[in-house]
Amino acid sequence: MKIEMTNIKKSFGNNEVLKSISLTINGGEIYALLGENGAGKSTLMNILGGIHQADEGAIMIDGETAQLHNPVQSQEAGIAFIHQELNLINDLPVYENMFLGREPKTKRGSLDLEKMLHETEEMFKKMNIQLDPRKMVGDLDSSYKQTIEICRAMMTNASVIIMDEPTTSLTDSEIERVFEMMKTLKSHNVGLIFISHKLQEVKRICDRYAVLRDGVLVSEGSVPDVTTDDLARFMVGHDVRTEPLAKERNLGKEVLRVEELTHHPFFRNINFSVKQGEVVGVTGLLGDGRSELFQSIFGADDISSGKIYIDGEEVKNNSTIKAINKGIAYLPRNRKENAIIQDMDILENSSIATWPKFSKAGIINNEWHLKKFEDLKKTLRIKMQDPTDSILSLSGGNQQKVVLAKWLATDPKILILDNPTQGVDVGAKEDIYDIILKLADENIAVIVLSSEASEIIRVCDRSLVMYQGVIQGELIGKEMSDHSIMNLATGGELAEERSEK
Ligand SMILES: Nc1ncnc2c1ncn2[C@@H]1O[C@H](COP(=O)(O)OP(=O)(O)OP(=O)(O)O)[C@@H](O)[C@H]1O
Ligand SMILES: [Mg+2]
Repeated sequence: MKIEMTNIKKSFGNNEVLKSISLTINGGEIYALLGENGAGKSTLMNILGGIHQADEGAIMIDGETAQLHNPVQSQEAGIAFIHQELNLINDLPVYENMFLGREPKTKRGSLDLEKMLHETEEMFKKMNIQLDPRKMVGDLDSSYKQTIEICRAMMTNASVIIMDEPTTSLTDSEIERVFEMMKTLKSHNVGLIFISHKLQEVKRICDRYAVLRDGVLVSEGSVPDVTTDDLARFMVGHDVRTEPLAKERNLGKEVLRVEELTHHPFFRNINFSVKQGEVVGVTGLLGDGRSELFQSIFGADDISSGKIYIDGEEVKNNSTIKAINKGIAYLPRNRKENAIIQDMDILENSSIATWPKFSKAGIINNEWHLKKFEDLKKTLRIKMQDPTDSILSLSGGNQQKVVLAKWLATDPKILILDNPTQGVDVGAKEDIYDIILKLADENIAVIVLSSEASEIIRVCDRSLVMYQGVIQGELIGKEMSDHSIMNLATGGELAEERSEK
């Protein structure tokens, strides 16, 4: 299979998003599609997936003009699409989700549930996924959902698979499994289009690359010929800093402490404290309980036992309102489900956390919000048109920046960021790291939850590593390395770490 896209143009209103893009993807290769947030990657793929129509240009599949007017036509042409924002139905079990739109029927015409269940089980076995296919999707963590979405595309026998940031909420071991799967598909002559902001992944798995900048194809070539620094430079148009970030800081008084905090079955006996001006990382693998732990600290979830202290005072009957009033901000992971309100515009999404603070007699002070947002928009370099545009008109990375802006607007004392750079491009990641360090300089306690060891090492003063619901160990300063984090995250002991030195 060979796909040729020629002179593709696309505008939304007067926003010219794709300016005559031409590229060719062959069967049996993994093709990286790169570019900054808002460069046009998803839009180009949405055209191939039949979701959007190009204004101009042609698509040829194996030398013949393809008509891709809707997603069904695209599927029928052999194209499978793993979307950036997951597309699963929460109220259906996993195995039914695996067959959405192509459900097998029994001879009598009803849904062949048994077949779906069986094939899903086979697929999970092959992928080494420990998950009961009968579970409802709504009960699953985002990382499982992403895995399901990937498996679903891989089951369709497509000849081209578009993977739009498939690994954003996966942990390292799951990513390895996805890569193995991709290599197998490649050897079966399937063409894979891989979009990712993790350039190490691109370097490892991809054969060719194309870089979009502001809707123009600025660079194309063979991956072995370039370094990740080269790719970053092609994307943003200048060198991206990679030297260590300054970390010497004076810490203030303790602002958060938890004692023996437990919520069955997610986490147990958690003890730690955080000081003003400190940047603390929390990392681990899937099922480590870190998101659940901080949801409980933020009052969004219960605790079974244990104590939470803010500014030395015990918080009883915790709730999100209480937590916000006490100066905690919490950016949840999995933007689409937890952070974005799809029916609201950009400004509303960026300001709802501060509505109570800046409204009088129930009337929202829009002027204040607009001013605050304009400042944050500049700092975070959010690529957008009008604040009253739908949040869904923004690219994935720019939506993430809006969510970050919302929490920064609350001027928190304790800022909890769960997977803050999900889908954010290399340049913008550095912007976010700068913001984190600047906030720490302003005496704010920042807690960064991340499964990317490199991110933790880059911005945090120290890191708690969790394993199956407990804090397996703490690494301070130079003790943090890919190796030491992975060791603790897989249940290793701290002593081994220290005696190796
Ligand atoms: N449905 C839409 N309506 C209006 N504008 C849109 C729509 N979809 C995308 N855009 C605009 O098109 C541009 C490109 O967005 P796109 O989603 O293709 O970026 P991307 O390269 O995938 O970025 P990211 O890395 O953040 O996912 C952005 O300016 C975005 O705001
Ligand atoms: Mg995108």
